[in-house]
Amino acid sequence: EGGGIVRISVIGTGYLGATHAACMAELGFEVIGVDIDPAKIERLARGELPFHEPGLAELIVKHVESGRLRFTTDYAEVGGWADVHFIGVGTPQRSGEHAADMRYVDAALTSLAESISKDALIVGKSTVPVGTADRLAGLLAQLRAANGLPGTVELAWNPEFLREGFAVKDTLTPDRIVVGVASEHAEQVLREVYAAPLAADTPWIATDFPTAELVKVAANAFLATKISFINAFSEITEAVGGDIRTLADAIGHDARIGRRFLNAGVGFGGGCLPKDIRALQARAAELGLTSTMRFLSEMDAINLRRRERVVDLAVDVLAADAGHRRAAPVQALQGARIAILGVAFKPDSDDVRDSPALDVANRLYTLGADTAVYDPEANANAAARFPRLDYVDSVEEALRDADLAILLTEWREFRELDPARVAELMATPRLIDGRNVLDRDAWAAAGVPVVGMGQKV
Ligand code: UGA
Repeated sequence: EGGGIVRISVIGTGYLGATHAACMAELGFEVIGVDIDPAKIERLARGELPFHEPGLAELIVKHVESGRLRFTTDYAEVGGWADVHFIGVGTPQRSGEHAADMRYVDAALTSLAESISKDALIVGKSTVPVGTADRLAGLLAQLRAANGLPGTVELAWNPEFLREGFAVKDTLTPDRIVVGVASEHAEQVLREVYAAPLAADTPWIATDFPTAELVKVAANAFLATKISFINAFSEITEAVGGDIRTLADAIGHDARIGRRFLNAGVGFGGGCLPKDIRALQARAAELGLTSTMRFLSEMDAINLRRRERVVDLAVDVLAADAGHRRAAPVQALQGARIAILGVAFKPDSDDVRDSPALDVANRLYTLGADTAVYDPEANANAAARFPRLDYVDSVEEALRDADLAILLTEWREFRELDPARVAELMATPRLIDGRNVLDRDAWAAAGVPVVGMGQKV
């Protein structure tokens, strides 16, 4: 074989799908992105993304112009055309439940099964509950037998590990490639698709469906656990003293532990980690293994307590001013101007899904504070969710006349703030560092006392 795979379709042009489609074109394939929303694909084709992702808009425009990348709303167009169909639609948390909503994945599989008219491989990339690929393979066989269309269609699973902010880089040069396959042919096809990263010695893991599905959720559960682990120790150092950053550095030197993802702070958010650990618990419960994944509900709870900690710190700082000891939060916060630095769930992203920063801002507002919110990229998305907060256009505007500043997303712009300038701007210079990224001694010397996470006060 070799060189047989030329045409690729990508179903779903959200975060994952748009990135994958552009990167497949970059690898030299002819690609069509499929989405049910015509307005969305029209904007995409012009390089207008509904989210912030460095380098992606340029890559899309480059390959729309090179002719290798197109978009359509019509499954029929790709069914007789592509050799490989990737499914990259969302699996959001079902409202009021922990479980993932599988309706988009199921609909994509069904539409493909009913429109493919040549030999093809369908490759699921969405994050799904373990057991999904087996179920979909059954559904695929059934639908193909019923509709009698020409061509042999097989299913494979290929989880995605890209991080927001690094989506293009992570897709073109991944840490590893994991494929769940049911035949040698399917593995061969995927080896061809990923020939470029394979040539660069990227580890290749070919396995069965359940393992491939589990690799994805296990990785995210591990990362969430690492963050909540260090944040749990923050609760101890807050009680007895000690420096959580030094603790993380020290245990991180043990290569078996590793320093990455041990940054204590206001906790994890975003469209993946929180929903994935909840979906995993829901799936375990379905399998009769509720106790097995119960520790993840502790990780979730530790994570959510970090937000309360920031609110409590703000109340304490402001109550001390008013001379109230143990003031009720509303009494302490009423009328206080609080500069909120960052609402994105992490820097270099405009995503506010499950954002700890935005949650804290909204809680303070609800308790009566006058919140001046500034984020370099995420103000618009935050305003769409919580329109009543006061969104401002610059960090200086947020800080001006503020009684307290709270750093909640560690954008470079905030890490590089000049503390002397901050001291000039604020009514009462002081800051809560929700991400532990500032040099507290330097800031204190410049006249801005800083309280961090995991710090006894
Ligand atoms: C995460 C995973 O890192 C990706 O590998 C995975 O592919 C992706 O989810 C997904 O499932 O699609 P992402 O959500 O983009 O990627 O964000 P991360 O960089 O993992 O950060 C998640 C959250 O943890 C952020 O809110 C961040 O601020 C927080 N975090 C991270 C900490 O609080 N402390 C740390 O030490 C590291």
